[in-house]
Amino acid sequence: MSLFATKPLSRIFEESEAGEHQLKRTLGPGSLVALGIGAIIGAGLFSLTGIAAAENAGPAIVLSFMLAAVGCAFAGMCYSEFATMIPIAGSAYTYSYATMGELIAWVIGWDLVLEYAVGAATVSISWSSYVVSLMHDMGIALPYELIASPWQPVVLPDGQTVYGIINLPAVLIVVLISLLLMTGIQESATVNSIVVVLKVSVVIVFVLVGWNYMKPANHVPFIPPNTGVFGEFGWSGIVRAAGVIFFAYIGFDAVSTAAQEAKRPQRDMPIGIIGSLIVCTILYVLFAYVMTGLERYTAFRGNAAPVALAIAKTPFIWLQTAVKLAIIAGFTSVILVMLLGQSRVFFSMSRDGLLPDVFSHIHAKYQTPWLSNLLFMGFVSLFSAFAPISAVGHMTSIGTLFAFVLVCAGIMVMRHTHPEVPRPFRTPLVPVTPILGIGVCALMMFGLGWENWLRLLVWLVIGLCIYFGYSRHHTHLKS
Ligand code: ALA
Repeated sequence: MSLFATKPLSRIFEESEAGEHQLKRTLGPGSLVALGIGAIIGAGLFSLTGIAAAENAGPAIVLSFMLAAVGCAFAGMCYSEFATMIPIAGSAYTYSYATMGELIAWVIGWDLVLEYAVGAATVSISWSSYVVSLMHDMGIALPYELIASPWQPVVLPDGQTVYGIINLPAVLIVVLISLLLMTGIQESATVNSIVVVLKVSVVIVFVLVGWNYMKPANHVPFIPPNTGVFGEFGWSGIVRAAGVIFFAYIGFDAVSTAAQEAKRPQRDMPIGIIGSLIVCTILYVLFAYVMTGLERYTAFRGNAAPVALAIAKTPFIWLQTAVKLAIIAGFTSVILVMLLGQSRVFFSMSRDGLLPDVFSHIHAKYQTPWLSNLLFMGFVSLFSAFAPISAVGHMTSIGTLFAFVLVCAGIMVMRHTHPEVPRPFRTPLVPVTPILGIGVCALMMFGLGWENWLRLLVWLVIGLCIYFGYSRHHTHLKS
């Protein structure tokens, strides 16, 4: 059978309707935008903004946020077209199975582990930083060996820099959320809405309170000169920082996984995807501007909880605790969505025969893919425990950007191979929009540097070995 055999659209629709998992269509446009924001605002904004400003872009991090938003907007339109055309769960993996064939679908599905599982690890490490910082405010000092990975520097009160052994709080949150998923959580729209209101309020309060205490001198020079090294300030720094903070936008694509639960996916998917992206872009640009205006960008170096540092420049120090609590709650929902997304993608791949049955085994009582959750709990915990946040964050970003590139390419292929399928939402100006999407995402991938390309390559090679060693012989497509 050809490596590029596609799964017929009719079969995809049939399976989704016949499945024992009839999802209820309950989500309207408001809930979809909220779902997107719930998945989007997290560690990227509250942890990586400071690091990327300090190491790559300076105050021009604002431009990096705009550049990343442009790339996401192009990709978001392509996602919208797919989500309205194939309005069922599975997202990019399902789209590519229908358009570009099994091998590419496998590559995307495998690549999405970087977005979802490694992404969850990234947010858990950031969660840990904020919890440690909150405990510190309450006078509780945790032993540094147990709150940081062996690569994460910790500055002790006496100024000495040491390294940790294991990041236990990060493991703890991954284990807790995995257990929750195993016992079956109904993604409650109410809980999500509360968390979304909390997160959006934090950003708005931060911007409003901080606005009057910005020092114009902190924004000068707006684009610090390049140091001679690619990615360290100057224009290359802006591109590199865009690749780094791109992480902050990840999640709008998660709206597409809810297509099967949308009341009117044809109309509401684009609203959910593009709407959440627009809201977050506005919030992010304002946030980054105020943050670099309150404190000199150099001060954020190595600080994974930079919001508190910026708030310390205002008279409202008490806000620090409230903000940290809201951020901690906000991260929890991001980790939840990511771990849930991960189990959904592997569930679909397992049902197609590309992965062993354990990934679609459903618990008799809880009705959840608990074995899959358990395996990913172990896998994600390893990263949470021992990996430095920048490495996992960059792996997530490069993996997701790669998926976006393939989705943009898929739109062009689909227009060619399936011109007759109804498209309630049409990406404007095809092929210009998807080509620009590919270009901007590739630029950000380029900005992330060769170490991350190498990591992506190693990950894909491992995936290809599994595909040719296992999946190709077990696929259900031939039957
Ligand atoms: N966009 C999500 C975050 O920043 C993944 O945490």
